[in-house]
Order: sequence, then C-alpha cells, then structure tokens
Amino acid sequence: MRQSLLLPTIPLLSLLPTALATTSSKRGLVYVPSSKHPGDDKIWDSSTSDLTWYYNYGYTPTTSFSNSDLEFVPMLWGASDADSGTPFLDAVKAQIKSGTNISYVLGFNEPDGTAATGGAGIAADVAANAWIKQIEPLKKLGVKLGAPATTGSPDGFTWLTDFFNFCDGGCNPDIMPVHWYGNFEGMASHIGQKMAAYPNMKIWVTEYGYPDQDLETTQLFYNQSSEYFDRMVNITRYSYFGGFRSDVSNVGPNVAMLTQDGKLTDIGSWYLGGVATNNKPKGAAGRVAIFAGWSVVVAAAGLWTLL
Ligand SMILES: *[C@@H]1O[C@H](CO)[C@@H](O)[C@H](O)[C@H]1NC(C)=O
Ligand SMILES: *[C@@H]1O[C@H](CO)[C@@H](O)[C@H](O)[C@H]1NC(C)=O
Ligand SMILES: *[C@@H]1O[C@H](CO)[C@@H](O)[C@H](O)[C@H]1NC(C)=O
Repeated sequence: MRQSLLLPTIPLLSLLPTALATTSSKRGLVYVPSSKHPGDDKIWDSSTSDLTWYYNYGYTPTTSFSNSDLEFVPMLWGASDADSGTPFLDAVKAQIKSGTNISYVLGFNEPDGTAATGGAGIAADVAANAWIKQIEPLKKLGVKLGAPATTGSPDGFTWLTDFFNFCDGGCNPDIMPVHWYGNFEGMASHIGQKMAAYPNMKIWVTEYGYPDQDLETTQLFYNQSSEYFDRMVNITRYSYFGGFRSDVSNVGPNVAMLTQDGKLTDIGSWYLGGVATNNKPKGAAGRVAIFAGWSVVVAAAGLWTLL
C-alpha cells in the first residue's frame, strides 16, 4: 500500500509483530482421521510444527500419530444410563501403565447439545454419575481433568450449574473448556463469562471458529483469536476447528485448515507456525452456506461423522 510508505519508521516497526506468523506452545489439534484421505494425517504429525497436543474425541490415540511427539488427551465423549463398567477409566489407566504420558483428560462433548446436531446430549445427572465413576478417580493418579465442554449457547451455563449440583462436590475439574462458533467479540465475552463463573480453572478453547464468512473476515478472526489466546495467561491451550478439508467443512469452506486438495490453507499454515501458502479453500459444489444460529453452530461438533 502506497500510504504506508509515508508512515514514520517507528510506528511502522511497532506494527510489525502482528503481521508476522506467531508461534505458540498452547496449540493443539482437534482431529478425527479422514478415512477418505488417510494421507492427510502426515500434515499434522510434524515435529517441526507448533502443535504440541491433540484430542480425537476418543479414549485411545490416533494410530498414525503413535510415533509422534504430540501429547494425546483422551476424552470421554458421552455417557448414558445404560453404560456398564468403566471402559474409559480402564483405557486411560492402561495407557498410563504402559508408559504413555497422560497428563490431562477431557470430559463430555457438548452435553447440552442434542445428538441430532453432534452434541452428546447428556442429562446433567447422568453426566455427574458418569464423571464420578470414570473421570474423578484419575485425579488421584495426578491427571488433570477437563470439565464437560458445553456449547457456546447460554444454556451451557445452566447445564454446568445443574451438573455441579448433581455432583455434590464429587466432580473437581481443573480445566474449563470453551466451544465457540461466532465472531471474536462474542467469543472474548463468552470466555470472560466462563472465567468469572469458574475462576479457579484454566481455560482450554477446544473448538472455535467463525462459520460461513468470507476469507478475509475468517482470517481476521483467526488472527485476533490467536493473539488473544497467546496473551491470556489463564487460557492455557487451544485447538482450532479445524483440521479437515474445505469441501467437507460444515462450518463453511473458509474455516478449514486444508483445501479441497489436502494442502494447507493460510490459516492452516499459520496455525502450524508457518507462513501464508495462498492456497484458497473451496467448498463442495452446490453447498449452500447459511449461518442460522445455535442449531447450526452445535452441528459443527458432528463433523466427524462426515470424515
Ligand atoms: C507429560 O506431559 C506434560 C504436559 O504436556 C508435560 O508437562 C510433562 O513434562 C510430560 N512428562 C514427561 C515425562 O514427558
Ligand atoms: C488467572 O487465574 C488466577 C487464579 O487461578 C487468578 O488469580 C488471576 O487473577 C487470573 N489472571 C488473569 C489475568 O485473569
Ligand atoms: C493475519 O495475519 C497474517 C500474518 O500472521 C497476515 O499476513 C494477514 O494479513 C492477517 N490477516 C488479517 C485479515 O488480519
């Protein structure tokens, strides 16, 4: 831009840091391997990238990452009254016993969302019982616990209050996850609310994105979010949604970290600590992008069924 040439040197230099790719050890991957494109795994399993950890909504590590440096965080995705035994607890204990470094686990995925839109849809009392049986015992083994990850809807707060009431002191998470699909200001305000409601927990933003926007708006959201997360000391980890090709994205093609051809988009490359690739994400032909509020927003969690 011609005009910037007229700016004095010092102000221009002071603007530079925001224009450079940032690196951060807080970054992780929320990821479900693509059965259609198994080769895509190699992009994430990179010893040279910024990624330090991942979760895959499941109990056990992703096979193709078994030799990687990425730290695996097991998740108990859902729970129901019909569950028997303690398969999650057993699986995590077995990993610890075999020498895997399990420092954290995550609780339920969008329990306040309905199954139809990708949330686990768990009644707060059922979740409390499952937590006490399968998650809380890990605390004694030194594992830090992630609270249930509610949607960004205001109902999430009500669900969490009910959950902790049913727990009656028996659920003691260390981390409060945040899911957010919307603009940056809304996200910052939502995180502020969660921090105020749960001041003794660290925040992990385990799914976030700005659905169905043009590329520049999407990239601006991405930039503002990373800068904010990296600066906030009590936001200790984050994982961008997401690690999939643009043509299967159900939050709009521009959000994706991979193009329809499996190449890193600008956002994908920035997230890994690299420079812009200029690879432009394209959607599937004929897809109609409509951002219609919470019912669509929670559907993002159901993406894994498409991969
Ligand atoms: C295990 O992972 C945690 C969290 O990333 C890390 O702080 C710790 O140093 C790791 N321990 C070992 C033995 O690698
Ligand atoms: C971070 O959390 C601690 C408590 O865990 C609190 O004392 C501190 O004020 C918080 N810092 C910020 C910047 O919010
Ligand atoms: C986002 O940040 C990158 C550098 O990390 C920069 O090149 C790009 O112009 C920024 N985009 C917007 C819309 O702010």
